[in-house]
Amino acid sequence: MAAWSWLILLCLVAAATAGVLQARAQPDSKGFISVDCGLPGKTSYVDDKTKISYAADDGFTDGGSFHNISAEYITPALSARYHNVRSFPDGARNCYTLRSLVAGLKYLIRATFMYGNYDGLSKLPIFDVYIGVNFWMMVNISDPSGATLLEAIVVVPDDFVQVCLVNTGTGTPFISGLDLRPLEKKLYPQANDKRGLSLFGRWNFGPISTTEFIRYPDDPHDRIWMPWVSPSYWVEVSTTRPVQHTDEDVFDAPTKVMQTAIAPLNASSNIEFAWVPYTQPKDPAPGYITVMHFSELQLRSSNATRQFYINLNGNMVFSQGYTPAYLYADAIFNSNPFLRYPQYNISINATANSTLPPIINAIEVFSVFSTATVGTDGQDGM
Ligand SMILES: *[C@@H]1O[C@H](CO)[C@@H](O)[C@H](O)[C@H]1NC(C)=O
Ligand SMILES: *[C@@H]1O[C@H](CO)[C@@H](O)[C@H](O)[C@H]1NC(C)=O
Ligand SMILES: *[C@@H]1O[C@H](CO)[C@@H](O)[C@H](O)[C@H]1NC(C)=O
Ligand SMILES: *[C@@H]1O[C@H](CO)[C@@H](O)[C@H](O)[C@H]1NC(C)=O
Ligand SMILES: *[C@@H]1O[C@H](CO)[C@@H](O)[C@H](O)[C@H]1NC(C)=O
Ligand SMILES: *[C@@H]1O[C@H](CO)[C@@H](O)[C@H](O)[C@H]1NC(C)=O
Ligand SMILES: *[C@@H]1O[C@H](CO)[C@@H](O)[C@H](O)[C@H]1NC(C)=O
Repeated sequence: MAAWSWLILLCLVAAATAGVLQARAQPDSKGFISVDCGLPGKTSYVDDKTKISYAADDGFTDGGSFHNISAEYITPALSARYHNVRSFPDGARNCYTLRSLVAGLKYLIRATFMYGNYDGLSKLPIFDVYIGVNFWMMVNISDPSGATLLEAIVVVPDDFVQVCLVNTGTGTPFISGLDLRPLEKKLYPQANDKRGLSLFGRWNFGPISTTEFIRYPDDPHDRIWMPWVSPSYWVEVSTTRPVQHTDEDVFDAPTKVMQTAIAPLNASSNIEFAWVPYTQPKDPAPGYITVMHFSELQLRSSNATRQFYINLNGNMVFSQGYTPAYLYADAIFNSNPFLRYPQYNISINATANSTLPPIINAIEVFSVFSTATVGTDGQDGM
């Protein structure tokens, strides 16, 4: 394949457009905490699409002040969560505390940021976000109308967790929304007491809708799956039949995501895509973990074989030819971060025995970060 046919996956931090979002002071019956930061008073509302109830951030944080974003950035499609922000002009470090958690459980934590010129200064800030005392990610707002979305999967050692915004002298930290979702402990085994996963991107290949994210209730864990469509390279494969999960499934990709996949447009070509690391001053060489989701969606005749290799920068990441199971979700993943590369090229090619082209249903890419001290409030060093 020619070099330019590599499709570069974009970092979610930069690519997310403003979607729907929501919160409450205590976990709801599903264990969800959904906070609309900067919503005045003690109000709450139910999001139309997800039916998740979002609460004001009163009671989660002490400092800061609330602001509406500038009217020119409010469009009918913009979810209510982005209409207002809380900003923290004072203090080097300001935290939100999420309480009533179960110590030792795994949680998905999502923070969203849309600037929308809320302060009327038209100055795009850069600041750091921590989980407890652990550096999570730098937020670099590059577009006033874009939403930056951070997501982490972490084991929380206490019955609370803090998400902290740290002023690094390059603009006032602010936040639009904060979500917490419980995950069963067996999910995402790569996240443990010492290591968190920070989402780089989560893409659903060949989606039915090219604009809509899949999230709760289609995904009971309320992960956000972004559509990834590239008709000049890929054909879409889909089914309306349910895709099942085995008990051993540790990723639990939702049926709606697994019901669509892509294959190369030219059946004798490979599926190829790539990403470049999102480097930051505090994390110049992030280590990456991927979870690739597969399910066969087409009933094969007995003499047809779909079998393929998965390669990273020319090296096989799975030592055998892989055949996805018919209407069962399965995943190929690495348990520890890949070696660090300036670019990660993934190529999925059919084995010599295969009569059918390769397919892939979805992919998640994470960088790892140390969570040796999640939850503690910072007196003890790491
Ligand atoms: C990834 O692919 C690009 C385009 O073909 C190539 O220039 C680059 O060297 C590859 N990177 C690695 C680490 O293999
Ligand atoms: C923010 O927007 C809301 C909803 O439009 C409005 O009711 C409120 O008065 C605004 N607040 C400020 C401080 O402008
Ligand atoms: C922030 O993003 C801009 C481009 O959007 C980039 O030029 C700049 O180097 C980034 N800043 C840092 C500290 O990474
Ligand atoms: C499909 O790919 C094969 C191998 O790369 C190539 O020889 C063939 O010309 C391609 N066919 C089309 C229609 O592009
Ligand atoms: C499978 O067998 C059928 C019937 O013999 C034949 O028509 C078909 O072309 C074969 N398919 C492949 C991929 O070999
Ligand atoms: C698939 O890719 C691997 C690794 O790059 C290579 O060794 C193998 O020959 C390829 N298989 C086929 C059938 O082209
Ligand atoms: C391909 O088929 C041959 C003959 O059946 C078999 O020996 C070989 O192991 C197969 N290769 C793979 C990768 O399954």
